[in-house]
Amino acid sequence: MSEQRVIAGNWKMHHGPSATRTFFRDFAPDLGESAPTLIIFPPALSLAAAVESRGGRPEVHLGVQNIHWEEKGAFTGELSVSMVLDAGATYALVGHSERRHVFGETDGEVALKVGACVASGLTPVVCVGETLEERRGGRLEEVIERQLEAALEGLTARPGAHFMVAYEPVWAIGTGETATPEDAAGAHAVLRSVLRKALAEDHAEEVPILYGGSVKPGNAGELLSTAEVDGVLVGGASLDAESFARIAESV
Ligand code: PGA
Repeated sequence: MSEQRVIAGNWKMHHGPSATRTFFRDFAPDLGESAPTLIIFPPALSLAAAVESRGGRPEVHLGVQNIHWEEKGAFTGELSVSMVLDAGATYALVGHSERRHVFGETDGEVALKVGACVASGLTPVVCVGETLEERRGGRLEEVIERQLEAALEGLTARPGAHFMVAYEPVWAIGTGETATPEDAAGAHAVLRSVLRKALAEDHAEEVPILYGGSVKPGNAGELLSTAEVDGVLVGGASLDAESFARIAESV
C-alpha cells in the first residue's frame, strides 16, 4: 500500500476550453488535512484553459490522456513529452483501455511511452485491465501481469522513476458495473507482486495503484477504504465538479 492517496479524473473526449473553465469555477472540494493528490486529464486542447482557471483551488495537477515517445517530427496528431511539460501538465495516462482496444495500442508502444515519460520527468499512469472474455476465461492474472511487466520494460533507463498504475477492468469502464472491493483488492495484490518482483523494495511499495471503472460518489468511499486501493481513476463522474469533489472528499 502506498502512502500517497490519489484521486484522478479522466475526461476522455469531453469538456473543451469553455466547459473546462466552468468546471474549475465550480470545483470546490472540502478537503481535510490528509488531502489526496488530485489529477485531472482534460483533452489536450483544454490544458491551457485548465492551467489558467485552476488557480485558487486546492492544488490540482494536470495530465494528458496519451503521449508519443518521439521528441518531435512528422507524427500528425501526436504530442511529445516536452510539449506537454511546457503546456503545464505533469502526468500522462499510458495504455488506457480505449487506447488499447479502440486505437490498437500495443504493450510494446506502452513501454516506449513509459520510457519517454520517465526520461523527461512526466509521471506516467500505466493503465491495465482485462476484458470480460478474458476474465470469464480465467485469464485475469495472466493478462494484467503481462500488461504491467511489458510497461515496466520502459523503466529500464530510470529504474527508480515515479509512476502510478491504474487497474481498470474493461468490463467496468463506462458500463455502470463496478468491481467489488474484493475484486479490486485481488487484482491490486497481483499487480503489487509484479512490482515487487521488478523493482527495489521501497520503490515497489510506494507506487500508487488506483482502481478505475464506474467509480461514483456512492461507491468511492468503500473502494478507497480497501487497503490495496491507493486511489481512483474516474471517468464519467469526474466531468461534474460537484460529483468529482464528493469523490475527492471520500478519501
Ligand atoms: P468510467 O471510466 O469511470 O466512466 O467508467 C473510467 C476510465 O476509463 O478511466
